[in-house]
Amino acid sequence: MFPLLLTLLSAVLVFASPFPPDSRVHHDPTSNSSQSNAPAVPAPSTVPPPSSGDGTQCFPAIGFRTPSQVPGSTKGWWCDPATEYAFVGFSYEVTACQGLSQLQKEFADIRNTFHSRYVRLYGACDRDGFYDDIIKAAWDNSLGVHALIWFGFDGTDEWKRRRDTLFGALHSNPKAKFVTRVVQFGSEPLFDSVLSPEVLTEQVLAAKRNLSSLGIPVTVSELAYGYQKNGGAQVVLDALDSINIHMLPFFAQTASSGDQAWPLVLNDLTWFNNRGKGKKMYLDENGWPSVTSPGVQPNSPNAVASISSEHAYYTLLDQHCHDLKKVVGGGIGWFAHIYSDDQEPGYGIYDTSGRLKFPFAPRTSC
Ligand SMILES: *[C@@H]1O[C@H](CO)[C@@H](O)[C@H](O)[C@H]1NC(C)=O
Ligand SMILES: *[C@@H]1O[C@H](CO)[C@@H](O)[C@H](O)[C@H]1NC(C)=O
Repeated sequence: MFPLLLTLLSAVLVFASPFPPDSRVHHDPTSNSSQSNAPAVPAPSTVPPPSSGDGTQCFPAIGFRTPSQVPGSTKGWWCDPATEYAFVGFSYEVTACQGLSQLQKEFADIRNTFHSRYVRLYGACDRDGFYDDIIKAAWDNSLGVHALIWFGFDGTDEWKRRRDTLFGALHSNPKAKFVTRVVQFGSEPLFDSVLSPEVLTEQVLAAKRNLSSLGIPVTVSELAYGYQKNGGAQVVLDALDSINIHMLPFFAQTASSGDQAWPLVLNDLTWFNNRGKGKKMYLDENGWPSVTSPGVQPNSPNAVASISSEHAYYTLLDQHCHDLKKVVGGGIGWFAHIYSDDQEPGYGIYDTSGRLKFPFAPRTSC
């Protein structure tokens, strides 16, 4: 399954529906660019002060290894989000329903080769016990997880069963609350018009209640444009524990090459910064494609899909490490979307033969 393809198809379906189309352009973070041109300036942080000393004796700090015994509680377990910025890990698609041995091997690579702190799940695997395998591979490799309730793009309500299955695993697996950093509703439920902002907000609040005994926060995985096309959907932003942003500037109407994407990144970050009320922000679905495909088509005639442009986009984020660190909440933590071209054509860091497409060693601090 190629979710971006399906996203585009759903955008086409929206456009072809009897209802007035919200947008002619998919993934267009610049459509409200006149709205705010102020830079995403730092604002006072609302994140509480670190509870874990120098930030290395906490999970999942680089160098920290999970203990042999599961701790009695999560008190002092997690690193302070205010210390989590720069490259934090990979978006990782699970639609292939990887077996435990593949998860172990790839999570080890994600942790050890790239110094990741997290994997952000993408897509869905409905195999019984799959999230228990994710928990085991994450625990064994000292990786945190941004879990995902997958909505798909077809307007069905399979996401409800997935939600219940995930919540069941989070409550029943004793290691779940030690590796699951956040539960995301996504991808793009607002952009895809699966739920209204009000109904999505009810879901977020219900999930927060359900998971409060485990201390697991809740967010939505969404584009700036998903909020913007819903009048800003402030009610959703207000309900979230963190803001998990889709940053896919290749689709912008003014996109060119990856090395020129900074104004596009800044534009969306500024939009969220002005409305996020100091909440921690992550770029959780964040990347640039090396090839176009039926599902990955630009909205700008100048947009370049190439390995060098993909590489340049990540280099750009690395070069702006200090700027991203200044953003509210201790700075932006960014994920690379996605681990392998096997998972989403052209977006992988690895190609389909398992070779790195370009040198990739992003900074994890600056
Ligand atoms: C959490 O949600 C699951 C799945 O919907 C449900 O079975 C469980 O009873 C809920 N637990 C709490 C404490 O709300
Ligand atoms: C985006 O801009 C359009 C046109 O100016 C406006 O109608 C719409 O309300 C704006 N969206 C948001 C989220 O502000």
